[in-house]
Amino acid sequence: MRILVIGGGAREHALCRALSLDPEVTALHCAPGNAGTAEVATTHSVDALDGEAVADLAQAPAVRADLVVIGPEAPLVAGVADAVRARGVAVFGPSAEAARLEGSKAFAKDVMAAAGVPTARSYLCTTPAEADEALDAFGPPYVVKDDGLAAGKGVVVTDDLEAARAHARSCERVVIEEFLDGPEVSLFAVTDGETVVPLQPAQDFKRAYDGDEGPNTGGMGAYSPLPWADPELVREIERTVLRPTVDELRRRGTPFSGLLYAGLAITSRGVRVIEFNARFGDPETQAVLARLRTPAAGLLHAAATGRLAAFPPLRWSEDAAVTVVIAAHDYPDKPRTGDVIEGLDAVAEQDAPDAYVLHAGTRRDAAGHVVSAGGRVLSVTATGAGLAGARERAYEAIGRIRLDGSHHRTDIAAKAAEQAAHTS
Ligand code: AMP
Ligand code: GLY
Repeated sequence: MRILVIGGGAREHALCRALSLDPEVTALHCAPGNAGTAEVATTHSVDALDGEAVADLAQAPAVRADLVVIGPEAPLVAGVADAVRARGVAVFGPSAEAARLEGSKAFAKDVMAAAGVPTARSYLCTTPAEADEALDAFGPPYVVKDDGLAAGKGVVVTDDLEAARAHARSCERVVIEEFLDGPEVSLFAVTDGETVVPLQPAQDFKRAYDGDEGPNTGGMGAYSPLPWADPELVREIERTVLRPTVDELRRRGTPFSGLLYAGLAITSRGVRVIEFNARFGDPETQAVLARLRTPAAGLLHAAATGRLAAFPPLRWSEDAAVTVVIAAHDYPDKPRTGDVIEGLDAVAEQDAPDAYVLHAGTRRDAAGHVVSAGGRVLSVTATGAGLAGARERAYEAIGRIRLDGSHHRTDIAAKAAEQAAHTS
């Protein structure tokens, strides 16, 4: 199978890595890619938001893709999957219409209401007066969300009324909702619009600094599995969230095929959806794919071609996986780029295959050095017999990497590893 992956973050590197290990894959291409994907796939430059350009690339003689996998949300929301599908090429990724599940918080709320999916009560506000009224109705902590795409940074959760009001005023349309407490879970499902195949759950760390301090980010680390979670949790989410949502979009005539990502809070009153995404999550994908034993290409192709019902059950490693993100100086505020990254060879020589680097914002400069080119620069993923072991390996590998001014969290999966140690 010949595959073209669109995107250039750590998620795409994780996808390329998994696909490169699948014997069914005979050619792997990535566009625009990064310095890491270039090691396992042929790189092409493309405007990922231009559907016709992506479709042209998929059909170019050098590529001739049997399957296009679209990683990030922006191309999906822009209709890139539709443009490629219109050429008769199989695509893993939803249509623009179905990707609105991620592209508009208000649309997602509407689908959830119609499908009876549990989520936070909310108001859609378009004027400062409406926003003030909604903030007043819920009280602190305030949850204020930009309606559109904002790379994980459009959400403000705060006890400070003035900060909540300021964020509401900076958005054209804003969703203000009830605060959900309890631990968060990310559950991904592969779907062809009809059959839903949940992956293993993961937990993401959204705040920039240790102890869940600092601003929200795209995600600073993740782990899987969740030793503290009820073993029935995945089945419950499949029944109450994933299936009803997929059924509702099919009923509307806009079936969702691709990766449905449910971000959930496990509250004292049960599971509640915090958000949907229309693509693999970053950094959870790095941890989840590290444990997937089923070859990835066949799974994604079956989803893209409506053949998931006949797909055999997924196989998973018993190992735990931990991913830690290394972010650039001053991420998420004004990340600095162009810093040289050192120690990548040392990780490849001393830690592989149990720990490895997945590139996010990186590129090779004219001298051949790998340099930072984005806010989240790298992630290190490690596997081990338990979370404690996987954590240790991940941080050992991190210790070998040098990037001037960078920061990473030191507490990824720490609490869960401790809980696992106490209960085993
Ligand atoms: P979102 O982009 O909707 O996933 O929001 C980003 C982060 O903000 C989530 O991962 C949560 O940590 C937090 N958040 C969003 N909505 C709520 C809510 N209703 N209650 C509590 N925290 C929330
Ligand atoms: N890990 C959060 C996201 O991918 O949106």
